[in-house]
This record gives sequence, C-alpha cells and structure tokens, in this order.
Amino acid sequence: SKLEMFVDELPDMPKIHGYDIVDGSPKPKLLTIGMFSKKWKFHRDLPATTVFAYGATRNTATVPGPTIEALHGTATYVKWQNDLPSKHILPWDPTVPTAIPSTKKGVPTVVHLHGGIHEPASDGNSNAWFTARFEEKGPAWSRRTYHYDNNQQPGNLWYHDHALGLTRVNLLAGLIGAYVIRQPDIEGPLKLPYGDEFDRPLIVFDRSFRVDGSIYMNSTGNNPSIHPQWQPEYFGDAIVVNGKAWPKMVVRRRKYRFRIINASNARFFRFFFSNGLEFIHVAADSAYLEKPVVANETLVGPSEIVDVVVDFSKSKTDEAILENDAPYPYPTGDPVNESNGKVMKFIIKKEREVDTWRVPKKLIKYPSSDLSSVSQTRYITMYEYTSNINEPTHLLLNGKSYDAPATETPKAGTSEIWNVINLTGDNHPLHIHLGLFKVLDQTELVDDKEVFKGCMLKKNDAIKCQISKYARGKKIEVEAHEKGWKNVYKIAPGFVTKILVKFSYIHSNTSYSFDPTGEPGYVYHCHILDHEDNAMMRPLKVIK
Ligand code: C2O
Ligand code: CU
Repeated sequence: SKLEMFVDELPDMPKIHGYDIVDGSPKPKLLTIGMFSKKWKFHRDLPATTVFAYGATRNTATVPGPTIEALHGTATYVKWQNDLPSKHILPWDPTVPTAIPSTKKGVPTVVHLHGGIHEPASDGNSNAWFTARFEEKGPAWSRRTYHYDNNQQPGNLWYHDHALGLTRVNLLAGLIGAYVIRQPDIEGPLKLPYGDEFDRPLIVFDRSFRVDGSIYMNSTGNNPSIHPQWQPEYFGDAIVVNGKAWPKMVVRRRKYRFRIINASNARFFRFFFSNGLEFIHVAADSAYLEKPVVANETLVGPSEIVDVVVDFSKSKTDEAILENDAPYPYPTGDPVNESNGKVMKFIIKKEREVDTWRVPKKLIKYPSSDLSSVSQTRYITMYEYTSNINEPTHLLLNGKSYDAPATETPKAGTSEIWNVINLTGDNHPLHIHLGLFKVLDQTELVDDKEVFKGCMLKKNDAIKCQISKYARGKKIEVEAHEKGWKNVYKIAPGFVTKILVKFSYIHSNTSYSFDPTGEPGYVYHCHILDHEDNAMMRPLKVIK
C-alpha cells in the first residue's frame, strides 16, 4: 500500500534554550535530555511507529528531538540520560566492532554534538557509551554531563548518537536533533529571515516502514556468513522531514530561511524545486559563507548542512515541490523513483507582501586558509574490502581498524593538509571532529589505479606510492557554496581531494584548551553510518 504524499503539515521540533537570561545577561544553563522509547506518527495513514526519541521528558520527546538554541559565548551543559528499554527495536550485528554491555542488556548510547568545537571528554567518543541509568559504561566513559562552551562561530550543528557499531541503528531509531548557535550582534545586522515562522530547520532522512508502522531494516546481511546483519548502505523509500513523511507547508510570498540537515544513513539528496525556485546559500555546515551563493540545485551528502534562503515571492506558481534526483548509492547507484524523488510540498499563498527580510551582499568573513602555517601533510585512503562472493564486508581508512592506535595526531591550533584518496566506487562524506576545513582541490587519479591500490594496501603509506604520479587527471571545481569552512565533505570516487584542516576555532587564534591526557580523543570518519560502524572511522588525537 502506498502512502499519500503531502497530507501532513510540516512540524517544527520543540525549542529548548541552552542559556538563561538573568538581569538582562545570558548565563550558562544545565539541560537534562533523555532518550525514550515511544510511539511516533510519521504519517496520517501509517500506524504509530516505535522510535527512540530525545526529549526533556518522555511526553515531550520527539523525532527529531528538540532544537537546542545556544548563544555564542555562553556555555550549555547537557546531562544526556538513557531511558531506553533493554532491547533494541532494530536488528544489529555483533560481528562489527560494537558496544555490547556485559549483561547483554540495554541499548548503548552516547551523544555527539556534530560540528561542535569543545573538549574531547564532551565529544561523545564511540567508546564513551552508556546504557539506561548508566548501569553499564564503555571504556572511554568519563562523565554524565557534557560541557559545550559555544565559543565558536554562529551556525548549525546537530546532535546524534555515536555508540560504537550502533550509530546506524540508533539514528535510524530516531536519535537525532538540531542545535543552533546564535550570535545576535553579528547575525542581527544581516537581516536574514528570522523567528519561528521564517527561520526553520528541516531535518531530512529516508526510512522504510512496514504496514504495521514499524521501521523496516534488513535483518540479513549482504555477507551473512561473515556479518549476519550488516549491510553496506541503508536506504528507505519514504522521505521524512521534521518527523513527517512527505509533509506540506503553507508559506507566504516572502523569504524563508531553511537550515537543511541530511540525517540519512547513506542517502545523498540533490534538492531542486519543481518550479525552478532558487536556493540562496548563506551558510554550509556550521559556518557562514562570505557571501550568498545562488543555485538551482544543491547536493547534500549524509550529515552535510546547507543553510539557504528561499524567496517565495519569486514563484510563478502557487505550489512548489522540493524534489531530489541523487542516485543511490551516490553517484552510480539506482536512479530515484516516485517515492524517494519527492521530499515535500510548499503551498504558496497568493497575496503579495512587503518583505522586511533581506539577503545582504556580504555575510561573515573568516580568516582564509593560510597555507604558510601548515604544519603537516597527511594521506588518508578510503578502501572497501570484499568477500569471495564479491560483496563488501567492511571499509577502512588507511587500511587500519578503529582500535589501532591513533596515527593522526595533530597539534591543537595548527593547520594540516589532508589528501583524501578514494579508491572505492562510491562517494564518502568525510567528517572530522573538532576540525573545520576548506576544500582546496579535487584531482582524478589516472593510469595504473590497480597498482596504486596494491601499493596502498601493502604499505598503508600513500607517500611512498608517489601520489603525484597518479593524481594528474581531470579536476572537479569546488562548488561556490562549498568553498567556505566545512566539517563534512563529499570525497569523490577515483579522486584525491585535498583539504586544509584547522584544529581550533576559525574566528581567532585561540586553540582549544583540552584535557592534557588527551583521552578520550576525537575521531574522524565516513558519515555513511553503515560504513562508520564497520569500521570507516579512526581515532584523532589532538595533542598540545
Ligand atoms: Cu555527525 Cu562523528 O559525527
Ligand atoms: Cu563511506
């Protein structure tokens, strides 16, 4: 049976302020946010679905969870609590590196604030997991209350689960939410659309549902004799925005700001409007762009964030469908179909209006990437391993598993060049915790790719393979709206992508002061969650 599209109103998640105002000035605040199992209606005609949801209480918990609104310069403390049942609602796989409580009871969870620049002990390390009532804890667990100092640039972050080997299922179950850092003295004068009506997060993901409403996930792996359940990518046919499948939204003929987060496990979205309306990009991931960039389409990989203004006064029609045409897996997989090619519908009111919001010519300028201060050059390879039935069994970065000691040990406050070499057939969104980066160059690898692969795998050392010998094919130009500071980027297959990473704040020279023991540290990984879990993730140890 097929669900009718565009019948539910687009919801907004509840908002929680991560600060108090005392005598007119902002003060740090402690929030308690729990994880609960509850029923959630994803569609008018679909029976309620059992989900895992974040919320201040079970009754107020939502999918996605509450949007946390933080203030630049004022710390937010969050006590993340696990109130989940003893068994998961989705199938998982003990044969990938996984958090497994010794009593085999409870759902391990740990929260990562994606895009955050904060101390490692509050970063949600995959091994810092905990089960209900903190009954069991992972080896890197150190504290109940996380500290986010919000000293970074204003922008869009999101929080989501990060438990070892369970990230893909914990997010599928619903453990995601938006987190916005605002800085009124800098953002106010921009006069961008603002307020609950005109400035809205859109958290988009794909899911499949059974007719009884439950989330469908394959319970048999693609290599069942090796991994009974693990599959290389999860794709669902229903597109869910802010917790409703294919919702609709009535808009006025004015500008709106949408902070679009791709919270899918593996699906890329290439968004476009059925009536040609444009996206005016104002920010990407967690940082503003220097100036707005207009585009007809925008390609958003898993966990990338595009922050766009859409001016509905320019619409020649009274309806606009937000559509998607990205093949899955990206870029060479299946083309989209009637279901996953549609996202949501905007119904545009007829009346003309005076619009007080604007899109300024200039946004926020940050220091540019300074190549002369680069202290290290690294080579990171992405490679997929297959079984004798020629199915992917696991993916690794630099041929190393997650528990091998850290090889990437940047100094806090410094910048590094990373050459990320994608030897697979698919695009992988690379995410680096703590680091913000600029994409400098993307060059195709030519000639003897097979030799290159062999060399890489044996020595795990791309320098010795003389990357320059092979990296001399065609170039892909970096999209104008992706030239700013990013925390996730789409690493094209068969290319080497050169990025400049800064391991500190971008708006000043202050480096992060952190726990001198450096444990637990940060990580970097592919943000296709099914890859991250098995085991396309490496420790990142930032040292003094
Ligand atoms: Cu969005 Cu390491 O995660
Ligand atoms: Cu990947």
